[in-house]
Amino acid sequence: MIITIDGPVATGKSTIAKRLAESLGFIYFDTGAMYRAIAYGVLKNAVDLDDDTALKAFLDDFVFNIKVRHRKKIYCANGEDVTEEIRAQAVTHLVSQVAAKPLVRDKLVAIQRELAVGVNAVFEGRDMGTVVFPDADLKIFLEGGIEIRAQRRLDQLIKERPEEAKDLTLGDMMKEITERDDFDSSREISPLRKAEDAFGVDTSDLSIDEVVFQIFECKDQAKTKHTSPEEEAENRK
Ligand code: DC
Repeated sequence: MIITIDGPVATGKSTIAKRLAESLGFIYFDTGAMYRAIAYGVLKNAVDLDDDTALKAFLDDFVFNIKVRHRKKIYCANGEDVTEEIRAQAVTHLVSQVAAKPLVRDKLVAIQRELAVGVNAVFEGRDMGTVVFPDADLKIFLEGGIEIRAQRRLDQLIKERPEEAKDLTLGDMMKEITERDDFDSSREISPLRKAEDAFGVDTSDLSIDEVVFQIFECKDQAKTKHTSPEEEAENRK
C-alpha cells in the first residue's frame, strides 16, 4: 500500500508522514531530502544549472542512498553523510531551482518508484500523488496559513541551526516560504498541486495527533470508495 502526502512548505508533511508511517508499521520517505541532497551536491561541485551537459554528467555520477542508524534516517550523497548539511539555508535557497530541472526529476522519480516496489510506504513531497504515484491507495494534501507555517519553520531553524536563524524575522520567513511555494507551484514540470482524488487537510489549528486522526478517517473513506458492493458484501460475511 502506498500513501502519498503532498503540500507546500512547513505544513507538517515530514512530521505527519513519519508519525503515520510509525503507527501503520510502514516505511517513510521524505522526497524533499532527495532534492536537497542533489542541491547540496550542485553547490559543493559548483555545477552550472544552466549547462545540461554538466548537470547530466554530475547526475550520472550521483549516488544517493538512505541508511538507518538508531532508528534515525541518514541521507548519503556519493557516500557522504549529508543529513545535517541538506538543511542549511544555502541549500534551501537553491533547492527549488534544482527541483525544476527535468534531468533531476527524471533521476529522482525513477529512484522513488524503485523504493516503492513491494513495500508499504508513506511518501512525502510535492508531486507524489500527481506524478510519481498516480495510483496511490490514499492521497493526502496538507495545507496551512502562511503565518503559522512561517512561525513553525522559523522555530525549527532556531532550534536546529541557531546561527542561520539569528537575523531572520517572521516577515523574512513568510517571504522565503511564499517565494519557494510560488516557484514550486508554477514550474513547468510536476508543479506542486493537489491531486484531484487527494483529501485536503488544513493543519493550521490542529495538533500532530489530530492531523493523523483525520488522515485515518480519510483512509477509511478511501477504502469505502474503492470497495465494490460485491467486496463489501464479502467483507461483511
Ligand atoms: O520538503 P522540502 O522543503 O524539504 O523540499 C525541498 C524542495 O524540493 C522544495 O522546495 C520542492 C522540492 N521538492 C519537489 O520538487 N518534489 C518533491 N517530491 C519534493 C520536494
